[in-house]
Amino acid sequence: MKNIVILISGRGSNMQAIVEAKLPGARIAAVISNRPDAAGLAWAAERGIAAVALDHKAYASREDFDAALAAAIDAHSPDLVVLAGFMRILTAGFTRRYEGRMLNIHPSLLPAFPGLHTHERALEMGCKLAGCTVHFVTAELDHGPIVAQGAVNVLDDDTPDSLAARVLKLEHRLYPEAVRRFAAGEIAIVNGKVASGPAAASCLLAPEPLSHA
Ligand code: GAR
Repeated sequence: MKNIVILISGRGSNMQAIVEAKLPGARIAAVISNRPDAAGLAWAAERGIAAVALDHKAYASREDFDAALAAAIDAHSPDLVVLAGFMRILTAGFTRRYEGRMLNIHPSLLPAFPGLHTHERALEMGCKLAGCTVHFVTAELDHGPIVAQGAVNVLDDDTPDSLAARVLKLEHRLYPEAVRRFAAGEIAIVNGKVASGPAAASCLLAPEPLSHA
């Protein structure tokens, strides 16, 4: 059984999708939030999952917070740390500690649009596809070996909100599947990349063909 610790900062809908997927061979050991009022924390607690609030504002430095966060995570002996809308820049020491066993989901087709406001930026650039990426976390923000990607068509009348909503639905399919593959030992990093053999097909979600009826 693989122990999974999920880090959130807010609503936690990706965390919920992973919990509700009831992945074989995986146990959600804890959900930790840097914001005590995160809605996802209450959701996890109601389901009997260890729910831990660790307010980053209580720490003098990023290093201090990351050290406390690592201690809170390690108390649950994690095989995998899952960042699910965890909106914190992490120190290099923290990312090194969980190298090869920490995943993130980002709402763009990386390496396009790291950082914030991904959907606004995709629309501004006239992108025809948008999507989301699950990747291993490295010291560089929104970088690291790509595990899974899903794409949607950008529609002419899309707004950042409508695009975000469609991409979020895809996130909820993609992230549990990527975590399942990790827990099943199906993911190998070779030369800094995740090999995309036949098993990886379930982590590639292509857009529906556009119809112009
Ligand atoms: C998701 O769209 C996730 O991709 C994004 O925050 C949202 C969290 O929603 N993450 C990032 O932007 C990280 N760079 P959720 O709390 O409902 O899962």
